[in-house]
Amino acid sequence: MNRHLCLARRPVGKLSGADLTLVETPIPSLEPGEVLIRNTWLSIDPSIRIQLAESTPDGYLPPLQPGDALTGLALGIVVETRNPNFATGDLVSHTLGYREFAIVGPDARTIGGYGAPTRIDPRALPPQWFLGPLGSAGLTAYVGLFEILELTSADTLWVSSAAGAVGLLAAQLAKLRGATVIGSAGSPEKVTFLRDDLGISAFDYHDDPLSESLAGLAPGGIDAYFDNVGGDHLTAALDALCPQGRIALCGAVSEYDGVATAGPPNLFTMVSKGLRMRGFRAGSFTHLQEPMRQEVAGYLADGRLTYRESVFDGIEQASAALVAMLSGETTGKTLCRLRSA
Ligand SMILES: NC(=O)c1ccc[n+]([C@@H]2O[C@H](COP(=O)([O-])OP(=O)(O)OC[C@H]3O[C@@H](n4cnc5c(N)ncnc54)[C@H](OP(=O)(O)O)[C@@H]3O)[C@@H](O)[C@H]2O)c1
Repeated sequence: MNRHLCLARRPVGKLSGADLTLVETPIPSLEPGEVLIRNTWLSIDPSIRIQLAESTPDGYLPPLQPGDALTGLALGIVVETRNPNFATGDLVSHTLGYREFAIVGPDARTIGGYGAPTRIDPRALPPQWFLGPLGSAGLTAYVGLFEILELTSADTLWVSSAAGAVGLLAAQLAKLRGATVIGSAGSPEKVTFLRDDLGISAFDYHDDPLSESLAGLAPGGIDAYFDNVGGDHLTAALDALCPQGRIALCGAVSEYDGVATAGPPNLFTMVSKGLRMRGFRAGSFTHLQEPMRQEVAGYLADGRLTYRESVFDGIEQASAALVAMLSGETTGKTLCRLRSA
């Protein structure tokens, strides 16, 4: 038998555990080209919340319907195969997370181009790093900084949600490349972690108006903004950016969890200051996965990059993990480890 996390009812406002339910189904026999994977690690990402709404933005994945199983990046071990490209015992990354077992076929879906079934050789590294700093979070940080923002060592950069999976990596990679980095996060503990453990100037976005916090840490303004949050954070960045400043739109987590927001009222600053703003999805840049892994694995190995995980145990905890991550209760990469890991 298999257990999947499914949408029980469409959330109204913030996601609650009661909006999701675990459903048990038999595991069907494999068709030619399919593999049966016993999932070991599930990636808990904020973007799945977008698919729990009635509708999704143009160009994004379609909304889930009540009864549908959630999907997301995952790692698992092949336990049965009818695909000559995968052998029993292979460690595989794929997009059928939020369940104990996954049947992955030859036409397996991706998330915006990321997550095609891929055999992973973790060597001596913790396998779950391939869902974090050496996986989607690492690629997203790397692309946002170096392809979209074209970051230089002369830049002063603001990273929002800087204690989260992507932000933690973006803030540190930028610092390692010589930029001046300011991070924001939602609790005193996260700010202390950013300041004391990572050596990054940081503020709690609850404390003061964002414009004041930014002016305090970057009196000359910022040159680049790595946006994980959208909403009021994006508005503050538009005001704080210097002429010719750049924005990488990575995500808008403040708008996912049942909060309707209007666009920034100060978009004309794009014109008046000659700003550049570009959205991106890491899945369009998979050719950068290997250079990213080389650089990030090197920093992890020599201790120059600090990585944090918030781990929940068992498929029964997957919904709690998602609710906690969206509420800001987790730090670094949020993961669910299945008993079989
Ligand atoms: N473009 C891409 O290809 C791509 C790929 C992966 C992820 N993303 C995006 O990157 C962003 C970060 O993802 P992640 O996986 O690293 O998640 P994460 O930062 O580890 O977790 C989400 C965090 O968002 C913060 N948050 C929630 N509501 C907020 C609000 N109203 N205002 C400010 N902060 C809020 C919370 O931290 P606090 O305690 O700090 O509030 C929460 O822990 C998301 O927007 C995600 O969609 C984009």
